[in-house]
Amino acid sequence: MKTQVAIIGAGPAGLLLGHLLKAEGIDCVVLERQTPDYVLGRIRAGVLEQITVSLMERLGLNARLKAEGLVEEGFNLADGERLIRIDVANLTGKTVVVYGQTEITKDLMDAAPSRGLEVIYGAADVALHGIESDAPHVTFLHDGNERRLDARFIVGCDGFHGPSRKAIPLGAVREYERVYPFGWLGILADVPPCNHELIYANHERGFALASMRSHTRSRYYVDVPLTEKLEDWPDERIWDELAIRLGPEAAANITRGPSIEKSIAPLRSYVFEPMRHGSLLLCGDAAHIVPPTGAKGLNLAASDVHYATEALVGYFRHSDNDAVGAYSAKALARVWKSERFSWSLTKLMHRFPDDGPFERAMQVAELDYISTSKAAQTSIAENYVGLPV
Ligand code: APR
Ligand code: PHB
Repeated sequence: MKTQVAIIGAGPAGLLLGHLLKAEGIDCVVLERQTPDYVLGRIRAGVLEQITVSLMERLGLNARLKAEGLVEEGFNLADGERLIRIDVANLTGKTVVVYGQTEITKDLMDAAPSRGLEVIYGAADVALHGIESDAPHVTFLHDGNERRLDARFIVGCDGFHGPSRKAIPLGAVREYERVYPFGWLGILADVPPCNHELIYANHERGFALASMRSHTRSRYYVDVPLTEKLEDWPDERIWDELAIRLGPEAAANITRGPSIEKSIAPLRSYVFEPMRHGSLLLCGDAAHIVPPTGAKGLNLAASDVHYATEALVGYFRHSDNDAVGAYSAKALARVWKSERFSWSLTKLMHRFPDDGPFERAMQVAELDYISTSKAAQTSIAENYVGLPV
């Protein structure tokens, strides 16, 4: 098999890139290890920045997003009984859209056949070869047969655990990582949200987040020690904890109901540099991970894909060899700013086990400052809606 761009991974990054390249007349093939159902079975965050919405609009794949997405003009920081609303619409002139990120993947997946985007599911043992040459290739197993895909470029959209990042020689690599001493226990329930906007809460018992998927489906989180087991958290215990941590005003509006999904996820900040080596580019979780505070994961993947599309169109359509060379620096400039915001919001809204009275006093002082300063609120707001691409 031969193509211009081999994409590894059919999550949001891989599918978004595949559609954008096809739309630009650039031939590509997407290789995915799992089945479509498995990919759609992953529960993900639900806040979209303008860049993600714009790329779906550019592809003409935003119909469901437009019909079902909830436009949000603000979000809230709760500190005990205090609720600080960040009015992102008035402070930045922009909004975010609440829409399950898995739904983005579904919209991209459903459109692939009609758009002629070739996605090979069940591609096992994917291996990258010749990434330092101008003629790299990928080998993989499919239906028991050894397959080979030759391409001019390979783009690793294979997430944190994929093979692409590991194909880059260690001598060329710089890694940065922060692992957090807690995880987020998330619950999905078909009950109306307790608030029409998101609430991030810092309570003496810990962090909580009230989010939603629609007017009838809610998504909540509490932070828990990494030693916690899901079986120790029956629904009622989660609802009780949320009612305490989110504060009395939100608690009064919580509608309880059976969880339709419940999971504990660890938190990590991670950046891999460079995001290009020879004929290999990296996009999304293959190159970076952010803690979910601020919901930057998918939106960073979208900005990476925007820059990668720009680079590959420059190469294939305008014979601009420098375009691909500029990709890594461009993508990383935005990655690091999102990493900083996600890290700082995580630090502000969580009680860390090793924190003492001074660290807590710093959180209270920062929340006091935010509650009284338009400049501080504007800084948070412009990061929350997404910095310019
Ligand atoms: N071969 C083929 N495919 C692979 C391999 C492999 N060896 N390893 C992983 N994959 C596939 C996974 O099965 C997955 O479908 O790559 C895909 C990676 O998708 P994600 O992990 O969702 O990563 P990405 O597309 O970068 O999405 C980034 O989206 O919803 C958000 O929070 C989420 O931050 C994440 C963001
Ligand atoms: C979600 O709706 O799942 C969500 C929202 C905001 C976050 C993380 C997750 O920061």
